[in-house]
Amino acid sequence: MSASREQFGSRLGFILAAAGSAVGIGNLVGFPVAAAKYGGGAFLFIYAIFIVLVCLPVMMAELSVGRSSQKDPLGSYHKLSEGSGLWSIAGWLVLITPYMIAVFYTVITIWLFGYLFEAATGNLAQLADPDNFGTFINSNKVFIYFLAVAALVNLILVGGVKDGIERSAKIMMPALFVMLIGLVIFVLTLDNAFAGLSYYLIPDFSKINAGVVNSALSQAFFSLSLGMGIMITYGSYMSRGETIAGSAKFIALTDTVVAFFAGLLILPAIFSFNPNINTAELSDSSVSLIFTFLPKIFLALQGSIGYVGASAVASVFFMLVFFAAITSLVSITEVPVSSLVGEKGYSRPKALLVLTVTMGLISIACILSFGRVEWLSGFVSYAGESKSLFDVIIDVFYETVLPLNGLLLCLFVSYRWKKHNFHKEMEISDATYQGSLLGRYVDFSLSTFIPVILLLIFVNTVALKYFGVSFIG
Ligand code: PHE
Repeated sequence: MSASREQFGSRLGFILAAAGSAVGIGNLVGFPVAAAKYGGGAFLFIYAIFIVLVCLPVMMAELSVGRSSQKDPLGSYHKLSEGSGLWSIAGWLVLITPYMIAVFYTVITIWLFGYLFEAATGNLAQLADPDNFGTFINSNKVFIYFLAVAALVNLILVGGVKDGIERSAKIMMPALFVMLIGLVIFVLTLDNAFAGLSYYLIPDFSKINAGVVNSALSQAFFSLSLGMGIMITYGSYMSRGETIAGSAKFIALTDTVVAFFAGLLILPAIFSFNPNINTAELSDSSVSLIFTFLPKIFLALQGSIGYVGASAVASVFFMLVFFAAITSLVSITEVPVSSLVGEKGYSRPKALLVLTVTMGLISIACILSFGRVEWLSGFVSYAGESKSLFDVIIDVFYETVLPLNGLLLCLFVSYRWKKHNFHKEMEISDATYQGSLLGRYVDFSLSTFIPVILLLIFVNTVALKYFGVSFIG
């Protein structure tokens, strides 16, 4: 069976697909917001260190597990642990996580599609109204946009690895790079853009504390799509003719460069709109930045480039974020698809149908949890806050479980699958890996301090999120 497993058609195709997964809303909005709040260049510096020292080894481990086992995450844990029941818990966890993240990511992607549609059809002024977002998420239009997003994801995934995922990444990723660079150039020509630029790049180390360090690592981990089974799944479609270390470095570099460029776009845009902005007030969440603050900035451009020009800029921006979101959504939905195909023997269309219906129902429950249905809107309450179903899914699966999955993977690779098997996989088509400084570093870090760091983040998040107890600043 493993001999017939579908593969990416080329190295470039694989890299674009994996980078497509990594580049998402986290890069385009989450990263610039975090950089603005946490000391600009100082945050960048810490983020870059975490990408290289912590996230890169974890990515290599995930890709190796997938390529070696030639299976989905659940099957990988099962096969490489030789059927150990305890490790299949880790396998299940890394299957449920992408399933639930896909649910909330779908909801945000639907909103992006809606905003793209509205901006492109002349409704920018309405989008810029501060009350619009609240009305929009509870309007029935959302269900139509939902059908459009679900249809697009299905259309891509039904084509399989090469003709679906790879082909769409080869179209959307270059388009994304061009739109991003075009917008950065445009924004830098605006008045006061350079105030934003210097705010972004000049480091302010006084803003760094333990909480910021924690955020930088969580952001880096999420941004590289780790702990979600995606890199295990994509690794299983990777050819043995490629080097894992080289590919992982390239994916991480692309992801980081896109995040950096997104900062060059968002911060100058914010400062050109209001040079005296107090960045501490800058919205806490990426969601309010994209859907409330940025439309106001786009509309303000009408003074210099007219309403049509402003709508065009807004449309390109929403298209950019939408492309980034769709390639990520495709990658995360592929994880349960590959499990249903691999473990249950479903055909791809059948797996997609089952997932579209079941995940779709939970997504709809999330859509109804913004006030329309009372018990979904006040689903539970912890640490003194009432949470909607949507909030709970984000808290549990995005904020909490990712580092736990990363921790389990590091322990699995180092102590159960065993280092020599991991090395063997890393050395395939890579004569330079054995004995290299990188090889020794990856080996040491994955079995020692990376799991410790991930454990600390996990414990800290649980204490803070659910019990309101803060161990660190
Ligand atoms: N790396 C993605 C981002 O930055 C995270 C993600 C991947 C989320 C896949 C969902 C699905 O947004």
